Amino acid sequence: MRVDIISILPEIFASVLDASIIGRARSSGALEVVVHDLRMWTDDRHRTTDDQPFGGGPGMVMKAEPVYRALDAVCANGAQQPTVVLLTPQGVPLTQDLVRELSALPRLVLVCGRYEGFDDRILVRADLELSIGDYVLTGGELPALVLTDSVARLLPGVLGDEDSAFEESFSQGLLEYPQYTRPASFAGMDVPEVLLSGDHARIAAWRRREAVRRTAERRPDLIARADLTQDERVFARRIMEGSG
Ligand SMILES: C[S@@+](CC[C@H](N)C(=O)[O-])C[C@H]1O[C@@H](n2cnc3c(N)ncnc32)[C@H](O)[C@@H]1O
Repeated sequence: MRVDIISILPEIFASVLDASIIGRARSSGALEVVVHDLRMWTDDRHRTTDDQPFGGGPGMVMKAEPVYRALDAVCANGAQQPTVVLLTPQGVPLTQDLVRELSALPRLVLVCGRYEGFDDRILVRADLELSIGDYVLTGGELPALVLTDSVARLLPGVLGDEDSAFEESFSQGLLEYPQYTRPASFAGMDVPEVLLSGDHARIAAWRRREAVRRTAERRPDLIARADLTQDERVFARRIMEGSG
């Protein structure tokens, strides 16, 4: 997959994109990321990317012309037609299902806002307006990194153990089961006996039950959409009613 990121602060990205799993995904060729400085597509001496809002009010608004020029150039450069994503708190919320859909695409172009956000005429250039949550950040750079990270780890070969992406939270509509590592006894708390048993069928059954329990306790909103057996649904309902 190729990801192009357009930002007025291109220096923000390197430390995250060079590190750990994402760094290795880039070295292996599974992921290509190109960061572009939006100021390259300005046409004045001060390399201006913002201006005052029509109608008055606080802050500055991202000008349309540099973003249009940037998208024309970046989208034309490369064999595959990209999907253009604007990062904005007004977009559709990012979920693991959406991450999975986006990870199947060959190419994404991410546009990071700053200031008070985009001139609304930029929105017509987007295939998708995306929010990483109901809160407001100073810029789209962190959301672009969140999206790149979440998508990259689903690309084939990026995670060492393919099952780890299948089993984790949200992948099957549930939160992940509790995890433990050595020591088996710590601060007066013991690891559940079943996990030390070596009995893989019992361990799988316990993990599934705990995933249902944890989801019912912490995110009852997910239970309605989760793929549960009749028995699991009764169990989840008991937890949510406080009688589990
Ligand atoms: C200060 S915000 C602008 C918020 C805008 N005035 C509003 O109320 O919708 C500046 C930029 O940060 C980015 N941003 C902030 N919060 C975000 C979020 N939750 N998800 C995605 N992008 C976000 C967007 O690119 C946005 O254009």
